[in-house]
Amino acid sequence: MTSKLTIEGYVIASADGMLADASGTMPDSLRFEGDSVFFSASLDKVDLIVHGRRSFEDQPNSPKRRRIIVTRGVDALAPDPNNPRATLWNPAGASFEDACAAAGIREGTVAIIGGPGIFAMFLDRYDVFWLSQAPHVRLPGGQGCFTGVPARTPQQLLAAHGLSAGEPRILDAAHDVTVTPWRRR
Ligand SMILES: NC(=O)c1ccc[n+]([C@@H]2O[C@H](COP(=O)([O-])OP(=O)(O)OC[C@H]3O[C@@H](n4cnc5c(N)ncnc54)[C@H](OP(=O)(O)O)[C@@H]3O)[C@@H](O)[C@H]2O)c1
Repeated sequence: MTSKLTIEGYVIASADGMLADASGTMPDSLRFEGDSVFFSASLDKVDLIVHGRRSFEDQPNSPKRRRIIVTRGVDALAPDPNNPRATLWNPAGASFEDACAAAGIREGTVAIIGGPGIFAMFLDRYDVFWLSQAPHVRLPGGQGCFTGVPARTPQQLLAAHGLSAGEPRILDAAHDVTVTPWRRR
């Protein structure tokens, strides 16, 4: 059966492919107004967002969004006792489609927003991955934006999983920050 879900990914990575520093925190050096505006506006258009228990997009519209939080704290699926719009999901106990259905979504667009293990889980499923890049920021010893970085670059991993780069869009001209859509070939 063909999935009725469109799956998108969103990350901002440093020049060396990191989404967080060596302490596991996303530093202010990786935060740019143009990227925040793009990310927030993009999430406003999707039906559901998915992230690991330690990630959160922290935007004005965050409380309104339906979300799946990935955690080993449940066996399969459960409502989040702390957020009526959130579903807790353990991929070891339930399929992604079942998780989306539990969140009330059987068709539409789902945004995957991290962290690295969650991004990597969907590498064979993205319809488009929006890779924002900050070419003047380096985070040595940081957390790669996918499992498998820095042994391979994010671009190599996206290409190896059947995605091709489109035209980059400038998000912050002063800092040369761009976003590139990687679409399934
Ligand atoms: N630059 C960016 O665009 C960007 C994007 C996303 C995140 N980040 C940053 O990345 C950092 C967080 O990364 P992270 O990897 O530590 O956090 P994360 O992926 O958000 O959360 C990790 C947690 O997710 C759950 N999890 C992960 N894989 C799982 C699996 N296969 N099965 C079940 N549960 C699973 C576990 O939760 P339990 O412990 O509850 O079992 C794990 O502790 C933060 O600093 C965040 O700000 C940056």
